[in-house]
Amino acid sequence: MDDIIERAADMIRSAKYAVAFTGAGISVNSGIPTFRGEGGIWNEVDPNYFNLEFFHRKPALTWQIIKQVFYDKLTNVKPNKAHFVLSVMEQRATIKSIITQNIDHLHQDAGNKNVIELHGTYKRLICTKCSTEYGYRFADLNFLPPTCIVCRGILKPDFVFFNEPLPEEAINNAFEEVKKADLLLIIGTRAEVHPANTLPQIAKEKGAKIIEINVSKTLLTDYITDIFLKGDASNVMEQLCTLLTCEEH
Ligand code: APR
Repeated sequence: MDDIIERAADMIRSAKYAVAFTGAGISVNSGIPTFRGEGGIWNEVDPNYFNLEFFHRKPALTWQIIKQVFYDKLTNVKPNKAHFVLSVMEQRATIKSIITQNIDHLHQDAGNKNVIELHGTYKRLICTKCSTEYGYRFADLNFLPPTCIVCRGILKPDFVFFNEPLPEEAINNAFEEVKKADLLLIIGTRAEVHPANTLPQIAKEKGAKIIEINVSKTLLTDYITDIFLKGDASNVMEQLCTLLTCEEH
């Protein structure tokens, strides 16, 4: 692994506009399960509960499940080493932005400023009738579903449900970023979910180099990835950080 990670560090060092693209795998060491694969959320909970139409039909039931799957977990998790290394990399302008599919807000909690949340965030609720927004602490999760103080409409977590369009500004910003990128650092995603999974392809077509960090190969690895760093995101990112800052050690 030494040689390949040295090559990756060289590639990152010479990039002019590196962008990180992250998925659930980067948050595993913060105690948040992935969605797919062993122990994945979708193995425990039927994803159809997270279908927008179902939510509108049975908001109280869906909120019970949302509370168990997300809010009971996410309200006390912390960023891990991989998140903090990306924060160091942004402070040193080694990466320009993060495009994340995660809703856990851990990139911002680690200090990153330029974060594009493709799938929204658990931290915000939005009224399904008048679109008034609330911080998630507004809701007393013992009385579900939470309702709007303006119009009594039902509040929804401001993250993307299945069959729900992605936030327009986020997807437009993400497309802009990958078109500018000459390096995409892909961390912990199976790249199976559309349209997020089109972003690596767009970067590749624009001539970007692709570095992928994952514990196992993905749909991208043999297809567009230039350097595949097989391993745990926190371990690999810590090694990269040492190599990228070692001249200062
Ligand atoms: N380090 C690095 N990668 C890891 C680690 C780890 N410690 N543990 C797991 N992984 C990898 C898995 O090998 C897998 O490729 O993380 C990836 C997780 O894949 P998914 O669970 O499919 O998560 P993700 O790709 O982020 O899903 C995308 O699907 O359900 C939707 O909206 C949801 O944002 C999510 C989207």
